[in-house]
Amino acid sequence: MSKPVLLITGAKGQLGCTLRQIAPDYPAFDFVFTDVDELDITRAESITASFEQYRPNWCINAAAYTAVDKAETERQAAYAINAEAVRLLANACRTYNTAMLHISTDFVFGGSRSVPLTEADDAEPLNYYGESKRQGEILLQQSGIPYVIIRTSWLYSPYRGNFVKTMLRLGRERDTLNVIDDQIGTPTFAEDLAHAIMTVVRHDHHARPAYGLYHYSNEGAASWYDFAHAVFDIAHVQVALHPIPTSAYPTPARRPHYSLMNKAKIKQTFGLYIPHWRDSLRRCLLLINE
Ligand SMILES: NC(=O)c1ccc[n+]([C@@H]2O[C@H](COP(=O)([O-])OP(=O)(O)OC[C@H]3O[C@@H](n4cnc5c(N)ncnc54)[C@H](OP(=O)(O)O)[C@@H]3O)[C@@H](O)[C@H]2O)c1
Repeated sequence: MSKPVLLITGAKGQLGCTLRQIAPDYPAFDFVFTDVDELDITRAESITASFEQYRPNWCINAAAYTAVDKAETERQAAYAINAEAVRLLANACRTYNTAMLHISTDFVFGGSRSVPLTEADDAEPLNYYGESKRQGEILLQQSGIPYVIIRTSWLYSPYRGNFVKTMLRLGRERDTLNVIDDQIGTPTFAEDLAHAIMTVVRHDHHARPAYGLYHYSNEGAASWYDFAHAVFDIAHVQVALHPIPTSAYPTPARRPHYSLMNKAKIKQTFGLYIPHWRDSLRRCLLLINE
């Protein structure tokens, strides 16, 4: 019997690179990695060509427009990639009998609550990136195809640009650093998210499908200041770190003060163990130092 085919979009991004890194751990699946040069998710004919060629069992959409501040002025591009393209992918999934696993964000939340947010809580994005991601969720939910949406937060990895790599660079360049301490969320190591994705896909392959919306981040809570502090502590970087309020660091896009997500649903449904963010950060920093 042939192996189930997983078609990954946005494979040159953080999550895509991480899925490629862990793929050898899952020999029961055939992975097909594509990025915009081969599969442009904003172009229906490009999507059809790839689906026709690979006939995937799952499309894992790791492609996105992730420049949160730029999205405020590049709304059309953000909407095309984060929303309209999800509808195009869902159309192809319907034609080719493919399930879709899509990644969304804690930035769909507005930060007005202060208890961990569940999948049932109202989305109220504060910025256009969050709005475009929310529209993508809605279009997928309305498509009628089998789907899993995983909302994640504060993603980092050894790949591409992210907060951990920025802190390591700034720690080398500067003696003092100001970091925001009144936005609370949870850092998520892309490797943990990638294994969680594979647990979901494997569950579908072996047991009854459990489609729907899920929250996934590492365990624990942090401010960006806590996160930076831990990076420098674990990496033994000497830098004078100062906590500052959001108001002292204005950005084009507003960000939620609180976007901690409740992960009970994904843990219970798939029997997932989720590591604490500090433990995962240690593992990522080891990889970066290799
Ligand atoms: N990064 C975070 O902190 C964070 C937090 C919460 C949720 N998420 C979500 O997690 C998912 C993965 O994020 P990530 O950090 O891995 O993103 P990323 O590193 O920005 O990677 C996204 C990838 O998608 C590609 N892409 C852009 N437009 C495309 C198109 N039209 N067709 C095909 N590929 C295209 C990008 O290529 P180019 O680089 O050439 O544009 C890039 O390789 C996204 O859904 C994101 O919204 C991320």
